[in-house]
Amino acid sequence: MKSRSSRYRILFVCLGNICRSPAAEIVFKKQVADAGRDEEFEVASSGTSGHHQGSPPDPRMAKALEEKGFKVEGSARPILPNDLINFDLIITMDETNLADVKRLDATGQLHSKIRPFVSYCQVHTDLRVPDPYYGGQLGFDHVIRLLEDGCRGILATLERK
Ligand code: 4NP
Repeated sequence: MKSRSSRYRILFVCLGNICRSPAAEIVFKKQVADAGRDEEFEVASSGTSGHHQGSPPDPRMAKALEEKGFKVEGSARPILPNDLINFDLIITMDETNLADVKRLDATGQLHSKIRPFVSYCQVHTDLRVPDPYYGGQLGFDHVIRLLEDGCRGILATLERK
């Protein structure tokens, strides 16, 4: 069994940490488990805003995930500057998240760890994972399809150890 510290650590980041990034965490963890690669990764999510700190995933996102067979859990927390040191890869959902996370490292030394989620998509050509918060239920389904595509891409880029 691999010790926690030797695992590759991935942090998904959106604005509120109640819609996109917790869903990315849930989807990626399921793909990792299905691939029998649980011991390789430590996966978490956070928000650039602490507005929803402690909240579970948005009920509309939870419903969309559960309909697709995902088990929904998690509680929101804001990203901290130390996360940039502690995680190996920080994956942001849109351009605003990317800029906000980069701003946490004024030196720029850690910027190469911060990547846009859509850069891992193999099928979808979306420029961002759209914020579904103010839209209808269909927006949540689209986000999940996008997340499934990108998470497959992330897992494929990280070689089996
Ligand atoms: P998320 O979605 O960033 O995907 O978690 C949002 C959640 C909450 C708000 C905006 C986006 N909000 O304005 O409260």
